Amino acid sequence: MSIHITAPVGSIAPVVLMPGDPLRAKLIATEFLTDAALVSSTRNIFYYTGLYKGQRISVGASGMGCPSIGIYSYELYSNYDVQHIIRIGTCGAYHNNLQLFDIINVNKAASESTFAKEAWGYAEEVMLPQGNAYTVINETAAARQQAVLDTAVHTSDYFYRANPELPAIAAAHKCEVVEMESFALFANARYLGKSAACLLTVSDIIPTQQKISPDQREQSLLPMIELALEAGIRL
Ligand code: HPA
Repeated sequence: MSIHITAPVGSIAPVVLMPGDPLRAKLIATEFLTDAALVSSTRNIFYYTGLYKGQRISVGASGMGCPSIGIYSYELYSNYDVQHIIRIGTCGAYHNNLQLFDIINVNKAASESTFAKEAWGYAEEVMLPQGNAYTVINETAAARQQAVLDTAVHTSDYFYRANPELPAIAAAHKCEVVEMESFALFANARYLGKSAACLLTVSDIIPTQQKISPDQREQSLLPMIELALEAGIRL
């Protein structure tokens, strides 16, 4: 057990898929895994372990933002000996060259968050995917002939803000999209010598205010979830 995850040690697989939303973790476990067992539900942050194509894999939520994913990823890596975490989330596109439902394999995360500096002394404002998860995702996508964009992400600490301009950090690092977790996940994996990658589906186009509708949301994330599962069993 760890402070925020009450699964018995040994009940979480070395590969964890990590959506933000606990109900999405439940949906993935129910729809895609066989023999799925709920192994932790502390704070209603659900973790499941089951089989995908016969291989053991876990899925559990990160919650929203760097502080939350910072806690769950740290405890998984250090208390449960997890080797790989693939975050599977949604993002907003800063420009209208991207389209709703595009899938992104994050190649770097830039942030004004103090997480990496204050937690681990990493002063850089860019964190990279760690280990082989990012490469295996790209190889898996190529083998499936599934289109995946290699894109830089802005990991933001805010969802709502007064200024509608492109944030300076996104302009400086040519970030095409924004989400709220990759930077902290990559920083933890770097510090602990583990593997981490992040797949995102574009759920909104910020300049045009186009959005995936609530009833499209579940279906629209399935191609990304399948890619993460297929990559997960190759790790
Ligand atoms: N901002 C931050 N995170 C997000 C967004 C956004 O517009 N869309 C999906 N995740």
